[in-house]
Amino acid sequence: MVSANLDLSLKGSDYLPSPSVSSPNQQISPITAQINQQDHLEIGGCDVVELVQRFGSPLYILDEETVRLASSQYRESLLRYYPGTSQVIYASKAWCSLAICSLVASEGLGFDVVSGGELYTTLEALERMGLSKQAAQLIYFHGNNKSPAELLYAIENKCTIIVDNWWELETLVKLAEQPIQIMLRLTPGIECHTHEYIRTGSIDSKFGFDPNQLETLFDYVQRQPNLKCVGLHAHIGSQIFERQPHQDLAGVLVGWLAQAKEQGLEVETLNLGGGLGIRYTESDDPPSIVEWVKALSAAVVTACEQLGTSLPRLMVEPGRSLIGTACVTAYTVGSSKEIPKVRTYIAVDGGMSDNPRPITYQSLYRVVLANQMSEEAQFKVTIAGKHCESGDILIKDALLPKTKPGDILVVLATGAYNSSMSSNYNRLPRPAAVLVYQGEANLIMQRETYLDLVRQDILPERLINFT
Ligand code: LLP
Repeated sequence: MVSANLDLSLKGSDYLPSPSVSSPNQQISPITAQINQQDHLEIGGCDVVELVQRFGSPLYILDEETVRLASSQYRESLLRYYPGTSQVIYASKAWCSLAICSLVASEGLGFDVVSGGELYTTLEALERMGLSKQAAQLIYFHGNNKSPAELLYAIENKCTIIVDNWWELETLVKLAEQPIQIMLRLTPGIECHTHEYIRTGSIDSKFGFDPNQLETLFDYVQRQPNLKCVGLHAHIGSQIFERQPHQDLAGVLVGWLAQAKEQGLEVETLNLGGGLGIRYTESDDPPSIVEWVKALSAAVVTACEQLGTSLPRLMVEPGRSLIGTACVTAYTVGSSKEIPKVRTYIAVDGGMSDNPRPITYQSLYRVVLANQMSEEAQFKVTIAGKHCESGDILIKDALLPKTKPGDILVVLATGAYNSSMSSNYNRLPRPAAVLVYQGEANLIMQRETYLDLVRQDILPERLINFT
């Protein structure tokens, strides 16, 4: 028996966007999500069931309007609430692809990249859009262990390098034949309440310079003719709901900026990182993008007034809150297993390879039955993936209407760190991704094939001929 939970009368429609909430990070589903006449979930004007018939399953479905709205809210609220100049850059680690980079670039945002691969993808997208000349102003290269080859690649393309540690700094001094633009990443020692794996600001972190060495660091940088240090950076963590840690961070960084200036280092930019949380479930209550930007801007202004220092150029680098709720993952229901008085498992055709977040961080998600949106969700079931791993559970105790094989389940808010952390575990080909906008659906990532899976494999002659 599937356990009935009749006192709860949830429906798929309960997760649809609320018209009174304008910030995408405060919705569980994309802003265009609605129910159509067939009682199907529709996103970006496209019927999700039809999308699966056309593009296959599992399928990432990315809503262009949600990404555009979040991007413009970041940009416009900085213009509105911060009296100095500002720039928003997209933390492309959240999801990096040609289409996503060009979508974000078309909204006037820059990029945080953390590897040669992310840098290549971003450069390629900008080149195809005819924006190569702007790349230098748009790309910021992060990372705690950039290789000399990656550093050279960033230097060739005149990107700003966010230097993380002494080894990198010394490598850059050797590599730089002409002045290069850098920023310094500092560990601010600020705690925030989020999963320990995605906390980065505390003193015990692998990222950034130890703030106890600031004086030596600023002195060293100032003496390097080929290093032009334009700013300071810190990032305290991800999926944060409180405003205070970022306000504290603003205060700390403005203080360090003033110290740098006293030591003769004319840094004019403060990059406060990303980290604003999103609503994966009803109990997640993040501030809106506008509220977050407003709080941060006010904190920088206040700190500058207190120290009598001029307003820096302010940068933020959101990832999750730009793309998280813009995407859903559609799966097809297959087998099920009822264990009387224990639980019922419903298995889908993907799992930890396309969404490693539940097994990695115990992350919670909400799910709807896309082909029967108005049906009451009366049954408590556990949504299992198809991997050979007991922990491959997408959602424990999800509420759904009665399901059958072939139904389309849609897991909400899967835009950030799902595709980007996906794998081929058990040699599952990665899903396709489509971008939906006003009734049009464009494939932006092809589904991998079995051929793709063996493309990098090499079978030595010796093994073929072994008898
Ligand atoms: N800037 C830096 C330097 C970062 O390290 C990150 C995220 C961001 C910006 C963007 O943070 P966001 O706005 O997305 O919170 N894989 C984890 C998240 C790791 C975050 C890594 N850094 C997850 O799935 O939750």
